[in-house]
Amino acid sequence: MRRKIVIGNWKMNMTRMEAKNLLTLVKESVNVSQTDIAFAVPYTVMETVQKVLAESNIMLGSQNVHSEPRGAYTGEISVEMLKDLEVKYCLVGHSERRKYFLETDETVNKKVKALLEANIKPVVCVGETITQREQGIHLELIRTQVKKALADVDIMHIEDVIIAYEPLWAIGTGVTATSDEAEEVCSFIRYIVAEIYGVSISQNIRILYGGSVNENNAKELFSMPNIDGALVGGASLKPTFVEVINAAEE
Ligand code: PGA
Repeated sequence: MRRKIVIGNWKMNMTRMEAKNLLTLVKESVNVSQTDIAFAVPYTVMETVQKVLAESNIMLGSQNVHSEPRGAYTGEISVEMLKDLEVKYCLVGHSERRKYFLETDETVNKKVKALLEANIKPVVCVGETITQREQGIHLELIRTQVKKALADVDIMHIEDVIIAYEPLWAIGTGVTATSDEAEEVCSFIRYIVAEIYGVSISQNIRILYGGSVNENNAKELFSMPNIDGALVGGASLKPTFVEVINAAEE
């Protein structure tokens, strides 16, 4: 049985005070034992968040990392720096990073490998634009994104990788993929993982859906056999995010 996981992605939001207030409330109101929870937060609030979450079962996540261990990369953050703050999960290749910061499948792959070396779980984001879906090329695109992200990833580490299917047309738009659309692609991703690593490993990999998930649609998405949780943007900034987390447990 795969444990469900719900990850909040705060993007470029939250001061330290706002972070502390929201997480204190979340910590007090969530009631789950079978579900993993993490928040991918801005670097500036990581230390605050890490203190608030100490001795809770909610984990700290990052939204990005650099693939090189150290050096002259002004403005970047290394895997070792994330480890120092006890970061357990790190988003890689979010569509906003691919779009605005020109991340490629190759940089995604380097980051995945650097994170796995350090025992931080990469959350690899893949997904198509509405045009690609309309052209019927979305599954091929996702196959390419998944294969390139996982290129040369050792079978020893593969079960630490989480893959998040986030169709671009559903991110921040209020338009969620239907549970059938999301399930179709998540099960296809599992099939690709099976092609590379075999069926039994593919059954252990966690595959999430992301894109306008909220307290009203989470339960139905989580009921699908190949959806192991969600990556949640906007709705993770509000106290009602607790309802999304609790829905994963049902
Ligand atoms: P959203 O964002 O939930 O606001 O659509 C999801 C994401 O970008 O990870």
